[in-house]
Amino acid sequence: MGISFKEVSHYYPTSKRKVYTVALENINLHINEKDEFIALVGKTGSGKSTLMEHMNALLLPTSGEVDIMGYKITPKKNKNPKLKEVRKRVGFVFQFPEYQLFEETVLKDIMFAGKNFGFKEEEAKEHALATARLLKIDEEFLKKSPFNLSGGQMRKVAIAGILAYDPDIILLDEPTRGLDPKTQEEIMDLFYEIHQTTHKTIILISHDMDLVYKYATRVLVLNQGSIVFDGDKVDLFSSSIFEENHLTKPEVLQMIDYLNCKMNLKLDYHIYNEKELLDQVVKQYE
Ligand SMILES: Nc1ncnc2c1ncn2[C@@H]1O[C@H](COP(=O)(O)OP(=O)(O)OP(=O)(O)O)[C@@H](O)[C@H]1O
Ligand SMILES: [Mg+2]
Repeated sequence: MGISFKEVSHYYPTSKRKVYTVALENINLHINEKDEFIALVGKTGSGKSTLMEHMNALLLPTSGEVDIMGYKITPKKNKNPKLKEVRKRVGFVFQFPEYQLFEETVLKDIMFAGKNFGFKEEEAKEHALATARLLKIDEEFLKKSPFNLSGGQMRKVAIAGILAYDPDIILLDEPTRGLDPKTQEEIMDLFYEIHQTTHKTIILISHDMDLVYKYATRVLVLNQGSIVFDGDKVDLFSSSIFEENHLTKPEVLQMIDYLNCKMNLKLDYHIYNEKELLDQVVKQYE
C-alpha cells in the first residue's frame, strides 16, 4: 500500500486552444504508507504542487494511473467514485491553509473536515480537542472567531483541522511559509514528532534546504515535470544536481565545507544540525 504513480503525466490547458503546459511528464514513483519523511524540492514551476495534488486525487492525471492506498485514480472522472475516502486517508495542508478558515469559532473550524468525512458531532469534538492540545492551541481560543487570531495561530488552527481527522499520510505544501522562525520551528518539530510516534508518512514541499536537510529521509527533485533525483539527502548535496536545480546548500553543510577547507578538518556530511557539528569538531581536537 501507499501511493504509486505509473507513467503519470499532467497537462494544464492554456488560453490558446490546443496548447498545453506540461506540468508532469511520465512520473513513476512509489511512496510507502509508513515511515517516510519525503521532501519534494525543485525550482519554482517545476511541478511540485501539481505532483502533490495527484497524491490525494485533487487533480486527476491526464494520462497514466495513480494508486492511492489501493484506490486506482485514472484520467476518467466518473470512474473514480471513492475520492472522498481517498481524501480522508491522505490529508493535504495547502499553502496558506488559513485562507480556508470560515467557521464562527476555532473549535467548529477544527471539527469541520472530520464531520464532513462522517465523524459524529461528539467524536469530531473529541478529536478536535485532542488535536488542539497537541498543537498547543490555548483552550481559551477555541470559542473565539478564527479571524481574531494572529497569523501563526490561524495557521495552527488550519493544520489542526487536517490532523483532527487522523489521515494516514500527510501532505504539506510549504506549511511554514511566511511564519516567524520560532513558529516555523514549532510547527515542523510537531510534524516530526507525529512522524516519529505514529510512523505516518509525511511529504513536504519546501524551498528551505535547512528544513529539508534537518527532517527528510528521502528527497525528490523535480525539474520541468520530471523526477531528476530520488534518494538520500547527503548524496544530493554531495553531487552537482542541487546546483543545477537552483537549490542552496544547507547551512550546516556550508559550515562543514568551510571548516574542512580553512581548518583542514575531515568532517563528513552525515551531520544534520549545529549541535552535532560542534560535537564532531570537538572530537577532532581530542
Ligand atoms: N492551474 C493552472 N493552470 C495552468 N497552468 C498551471 C496551473 N497550475 C500550475 N500551472 C503550471 O504548471 C507548471 C507546474 O506548476 P506547479 O505549481 O506545480 O509548480 P511548483 O513547483 O509547485 O512551483 P512553486 O515552487 O512556484 O510553488 C508551471 O509551469 C505552472 O505555470
Ligand atoms: Mg507550488
